[in-house]
Order: sequence, then C-alpha cells, then structure tokens
Amino acid sequence: MWKIANTEINGKTILAPMAGITTFAYREFMRSFGVALCYTEMISDSGLIFNNEKTYEYLPRREEKRPTTIQLFGGEKEKLLSAIEKIEKYTDNYDFLDLNLGCPVPKVTRNNGGSAWLKHPNELISMVEAVVKASTKPVTVKIRIGWDEKHINFKELLPKLEAVGVSLIAIHLRTTKQLYGGKARYDLAYNIQDLVSIPLVVSGDIYSLDDALKALEITGAKAVMLARGQLGNPFLAAQIETYFKNGERLPDPTLHEQLDYLWTLANMMVKEKGEHTGILVMRGIAHHFIKGFSFTKTFRVKLTKMSTLANLAAIIKEIKDQALLT
Ligand SMILES: Cc1cc2nc3c(=O)[nH]c(=O)nc-3n(C[C@H](O)[C@H](O)[C@H](O)COP(=O)(O)O)c2cc1C
Repeated sequence: MWKIANTEINGKTILAPMAGITTFAYREFMRSFGVALCYTEMISDSGLIFNNEKTYEYLPRREEKRPTTIQLFGGEKEKLLSAIEKIEKYTDNYDFLDLNLGCPVPKVTRNNGGSAWLKHPNELISMVEAVVKASTKPVTVKIRIGWDEKHINFKELLPKLEAVGVSLIAIHLRTTKQLYGGKARYDLAYNIQDLVSIPLVVSGDIYSLDDALKALEITGAKAVMLARGQLGNPFLAAQIETYFKNGERLPDPTLHEQLDYLWTLANMMVKEKGEHTGILVMRGIAHHFIKGFSFTKTFRVKLTKMSTLANLAAIIKEIKDQALLT
C-alpha cells in the first residue's frame, strides 16, 4: 500500500490514459482485473471551456468507481485554470487532477500542449504551481523524459515539480521525438525514485510480470503504468497484482478465457456507448485479444470490420470451432 496525497493506493498497476480507449467501460473492465487507479482519456481544456458535449462525456460518471484521475491537456495556463473551474462545477467524483505534459501529437504540441511544455521548463513549473493552487483535488503530472535525445530534462524537472506541490509524477520513459517507437529508456532511470519523496510511476513497455518487476527494481517507482501491454491482455494486471500479494505467478490465459474477456468488454462498451459506437471502438481493440494465437490471423481482419454484437458473437464462435480442429 502507498499513497498519493492522502489517498491509499492498493496495488502496483495503474491503467494509463489512452485516448480513444480508456473510456468509462474500459476503466470498469480493467478495475475488475485489479488495477489500483484508472486515468481518463486526455480531456481538452478548450472542449470544456466551450461546453462541448462530447468532451464532458470523457469526465467520470456518477457511477464511476474510485480512485480515478482526470487527465487534462492544454497549452495555456489561463485556459487550464478555467477548465479546472468547469470540471469542479461538473463533478466531484474523482481523486486526482492530472496534467498531460507528454502527448507528442502535433495537433496538441502545435498549441503548446502535451509535451511541448517540456521545451519551456520555467513556464511549465509556473503553470503547474498555479494549477496546484487552483485545484481542490491533488494534482499529478505525466511527462516524458524530454523533447529529444539532446534535451533529456526529466531529472531536473522532478524536484521542481515536487517543490510546487505535485502529488505524483508519471514518467513515460521516451522522448517526444520517439513517439511510441524505440525502447523505453529504463537505462536512464536507475533509482529515479531517490530524487523525490512524492511517488513516481513509470510508463513504457510493460508487457509481462517480469517487465514490471524489472521496471520497479530499476527505478524504485511505486507502480507501473499499463498501456499497450494490457491491450488485449487485461489479465496482465491480475498477474502483477497477484504476484505482489502472495508471490504467485498466474499462468497466461487460454484462448477461451481471452475470448470471454473480449466478449465482456464488448458488452460493457456497447452498454456505455450504444451498439454502433461501442462496436466501432471495439474494432480497434478486439483483435489484440487473439494476437499470440497463430491460427487466428484470418480472424483479426474480421474483427476490424464487425459492426454489431451479433457479428462479434459469430466470429468468437468461429474462432472456438477452429480451435477445436487444430
Ligand atoms: C493509443 C494510445 C493513446 C494514448 N493516449 C494517451 C493520453 O490520452 N494521455 C497520455 O498521457 N498518454 C497517452 N498515451 C501514452 C500511454 O499512456 C503510455 O504512456 C505509452 O503508451 C507508453 O507505454 P507503453 O510503451 O507501455 O505503451 C497513449 C498511448 C497510446 C498507444
């Protein structure tokens, strides 16, 4: 057990914020595998300020379980402060307010949002200080190690972020220029937890229990963030959490179990978004549940083209029938 501000966090895995994926249903689904904290998708400050209805759907629902972090992005201090006012009027059902200081997407960095902040450390720190003062909830940040190989500045930033009152720092161990490619730079992150007394969380390339153990050992961080490694492999969270509870190494799920997880998630997504949109979201996610099972290659394409729950049920049945033959 460890704490973010005064909130106890009961586990070692955190569901990373992932735009287009970590919706309400997805967060609930992953909580059932034991993740100790869920982040929303990144939420635009402008969308909140301009009362964009879709943007408000990204905020936690009344029935959202806790703990939950709302992740906000924006490129101007004043706008971020206005957006926080909007959030606080709209909901109290969250634990932490997170600032996205790591998004590399040009649409975001062009407006000085996401990881563009890393290029201006002084402005970054003064913005974060203002946000910490304005927010009634503890503030956390998610950063990258720097803009590019020549400007790796996360180690200087950590104590400065702590000094202005940040309650947790999540670090994606890649530069902005790396986007999502190349390896996460654990080689630069030995004992980084010693640099600050607030908790750190590390993000990047956690695909297995052993990846998680290594990441925690190298960095000393309090937890790992699960992102692409849990896509189609939700049981990874259970494997890591179980190991930390009783030392047991749970076996990987069978194909049938994977298909059950897929069916559960699809139904939750449809319940959240309606069948049309829910299945559209699942088109991008479903095929991950059968990666690793070689004979299923032909079914991956089918999963990216499905349009109803009935389609999905039929594909799952076909996969099970095929599995019996091989
Ligand atoms: C599809 C996708 C969407 C993402 N969306 C966000 C986001 O909204 N906010 C954020 O801070 N990071 C976002 N990330 C970054 C992840 O949270 C994570 O830091 C990154 O994927 C590195 O971890 P990994 O190598 O384990 O995937 C996203 C990543 C992916 C692949």
